[in-house]
Amino acid sequence: MARICCGPLHTLALLTSVLLIMVLKDKNLSFAFFPSAAEWQHSSNISYRSVEFRKNLSSDVNVSAGPRTHTSLVRGQCGVAVESRISCGRDRSLSRADCEGRGCCYVPLPRSGLGGPPWCFYPVRYPGYKMGPLLPTEKGQRATLARSAPSYLPRDIPTLQLDVMPETLGRLHLTLKDPASPRYEVPFVTSQSRGQKDIQNPLYDVDFQPDPFGFIVRRKSNGRVLLNTTIGPLLFADQYLQLSSSMASSVISGLGEHYTPITLDLNWTSVSLWNRDMAPHRNANLYGSHPFFLVQEGDGQAHGVFLLNSNAMEVFLQPAPALTWATVGGILDFYIFLGPSPQSVVQQYHEVIGYPMMPPYWSLGFHLCRWGYTSTNRTRTVVQLMRQAKIPLDVQWNDLDYADRRRVFTFDPQRFGDLPQMVEEFHQLGMKYVLILDPGISSASPPGSYKPFDDGLKRGVFIKNSTGQILIGKVWPGPTAFPDFTNPTTQDWWMDCIRVFHSKVPVDGLWIDMNEPSNFVEGSVDGCPDSDLEKPPYTPGVIGGQLNSGTLCVSAQQYLSSHYNLHNLYGLTEAIATHRALLKVKSTRPFVLSRSSFPGLGRFSAHWTGDVRSDWEQLRFSIPGVLLFGLYGVPLVGADVCGFGGDTTEELCVRWTQLGAFYPLMRNHNDRPNAPQEPYVFSQQAQDAMRTVITLRYSLLPFLYTLFHHTHTSSRTVARPLFLEFPTDPNCQTIDRQFLWGASLLISPVLEEGALEVTAYLPPGTWYSLNNGEACYSKGQYFLFPAPLDTINVHVREGSIIPQQAPALTTTASRRNPFTLIVALSVGNWAEGELFWDDGESLDTFERGNYSYVLFFAEESYVVSKPVKLNGCLDGLVLGEVRVFGVQAPPTAVWANGKKVHVFSYSPDTKVLTVPGLDLPMTAMITVKWS
Ligand code: NOJ
Repeated sequence: MARICCGPLHTLALLTSVLLIMVLKDKNLSFAFFPSAAEWQHSSNISYRSVEFRKNLSSDVNVSAGPRTHTSLVRGQCGVAVESRISCGRDRSLSRADCEGRGCCYVPLPRSGLGGPPWCFYPVRYPGYKMGPLLPTEKGQRATLARSAPSYLPRDIPTLQLDVMPETLGRLHLTLKDPASPRYEVPFVTSQSRGQKDIQNPLYDVDFQPDPFGFIVRRKSNGRVLLNTTIGPLLFADQYLQLSSSMASSVISGLGEHYTPITLDLNWTSVSLWNRDMAPHRNANLYGSHPFFLVQEGDGQAHGVFLLNSNAMEVFLQPAPALTWATVGGILDFYIFLGPSPQSVVQQYHEVIGYPMMPPYWSLGFHLCRWGYTSTNRTRTVVQLMRQAKIPLDVQWNDLDYADRRRVFTFDPQRFGDLPQMVEEFHQLGMKYVLILDPGISSASPPGSYKPFDDGLKRGVFIKNSTGQILIGKVWPGPTAFPDFTNPTTQDWWMDCIRVFHSKVPVDGLWIDMNEPSNFVEGSVDGCPDSDLEKPPYTPGVIGGQLNSGTLCVSAQQYLSSHYNLHNLYGLTEAIATHRALLKVKSTRPFVLSRSSFPGLGRFSAHWTGDVRSDWEQLRFSIPGVLLFGLYGVPLVGADVCGFGGDTTEELCVRWTQLGAFYPLMRNHNDRPNAPQEPYVFSQQAQDAMRTVITLRYSLLPFLYTLFHHTHTSSRTVARPLFLEFPTDPNCQTIDRQFLWGASLLISPVLEEGALEVTAYLPPGTWYSLNNGEACYSKGQYFLFPAPLDTINVHVREGSIIPQQAPALTTTASRRNPFTLIVALSVGNWAEGELFWDDGESLDTFERGNYSYVLFFAEESYVVSKPVKLNGCLDGLVLGEVRVFGVQAPPTAVWANGKKVHVFSYSPDTKVLTVPGLDLPMTAMITVKWS
């Protein structure tokens, strides 16, 4: 292809294409791109160049182009490398004639089991939209895309509006919608008017292929192609929108909620995003939808993509590496995050969906629940037995057992008649109490006997079916109506229900379960109409095969739109309403735990990973489950410790408690029919192991709380996959059997039955055992550590200072205890750390400056604790002990604030200096020196 180059931009373009070809060659891809010098357009921020692409065709398959009906296929156009074939028949399986009727290539391959490359795929330059000129707008640039002939899809949209909005240096926003008639767009998730026009020198370049339309996003610094949508057509019909893109690497994480490792399998797999009440297992759409993924580019850099779309969707992954989004409605609303570090990708994503809430301190304690605490007395006994066993417990829960005939906002007069008193007793013990609250409102009680339903009916809060009657489904109480939380009236009614109930039962938090929403009948008790919404031309691969399976008819009407559009937002909207209600009723930080999720949930709620089975595999998969929710902006997350479904074993429960002690949210929860699994039911040895690790968690809560402060204020993750912290270490890319708390604590749990050792990777550097301070020097290698039943291996990273506090049976008590500093000296003999402290429950303490902040730093022979902000909440609290790891020479003398300390110890084996009994106020600067 002829090229005419002139001027520096052209030189850059040439260089970029050369680089690109090199990159692609490197990856063994069988096509390369040749930008033409066709057209150049400039905006003040990004240079857009329209380019033409030609695929360098590798004929590694036998092409049989067949009869040419729809479009004229030349032989070479079907020579797409097998791993790069993009299916032309996602909506249904196609015969050769059907396939070729669509103008696609039909090239059968030997079948090797299910899945695999498509036989019917798009040829190179499959006709699609043609792009008009890019014109400047307030937020960036806009172009019109038009098709000259309709696609094969019903209700094709012939003209689209493309908006390209460079919003920050690292964030590009790109939307495709129908300019002729407004379509559904996702509410609640993003705040408006984020576009800024004058972005100087962003990290990205965007190029457009005008015909057929496609775009390429490159990392400007190295020319790497991050996304290339010219590899397949853009399809945009009323109920089917599709866009494919190449990927910069095969290491991708996200697109939850699914039962997967931390990185996805690109070997012709797909994931469907459609919230569903479904116990975690492989290849199933689970409770939440997160159309976001992060790509590790292989050199430590990363980028992310968020498709803000709440319709049912399926994302197809293939080894090219490439991906195809297919959604059944809404618009295409993409955010692209350039990082360049994985952690900054996460932060850039959270800037769009909102930073996580600051949880109440008590919610970081241990929670105990089960379905089957059938009375207040039974629940009281559980608490008593925990206290007798001297195992910390902050939060006691009740499941549906409490409710009168399983109707929410009531309590059983016989078995739970003294519920208010019981809650009061727990409060006296310094504990908190959380209750389950399902969204389904019983509709079968005689009129006048169940106020939530009667009131709701009057106020018009329930979701209606397609003919305007209240949709009745079936959940635990029997026939139920479903509140429509997108309606402001519903939010007020919900708040009133919570206020009235709270005035009787002063719960501290609410557990919103079954909010996908779950329905035990398909759609409604009357079935669902036979409509395009219920049976769209294309249904993503969801459990049950239909969108209304296990939930409401999707043709149901909500205040803002159809359930078809809003289904995936049900849990989020309930969480918003519940958070708002608790905020009003209690005026302290709300605690809400939601099963269903969507981007933005973390601003309002915690999450647990649902009905996990009590087995070793589910124990293992709980780690990526938890870590991925950190990426999704829901850092307060955990799996049911010891498993929910089926009987646990003592060993599994001990190991799960050890791992669970490092979930950001730690709750032991169990299903009704199962053997009990409260820590006190096990042998003394098991109880000791559980007590040890829960106590360890309690001692680390000041550190954990400080991590939550950082996630709330700057979206740094709490439980962190290793690749976020060590992005340039290739060994860390896929590790999901270990994880970090913040940057400093590395947790390596036992995940196999019978194992008494654990193989753990330590990134390069010195790591100290949190247990005894012993140093481990790693070149970036695996170690075998002893892990007897009473031990979980936790390592402290060199250079960190971890604030701890002496544990107690509740956080109410532990928050008054002396602090300890664990100082992990680096090879260069320094360390640093910090403490964020407030009253643990007031609203917006950071935003209002109502907190204290202490910095810690250490050098070869001293450590300093320096308050940099005080607000009174640290008054009366003392530093009790300092433990310094990595002190090479035995100290002969120690001074605290200039005074000689007489009691200290040093271990020449572990090189740990311990200085106990300090009793120095945290509100003043403290220096501990040794020599
Ligand atoms: C389903 C939830 O996932 C589970 O945790 C709960 O115990 C039951 N519903 C009963 O409420």
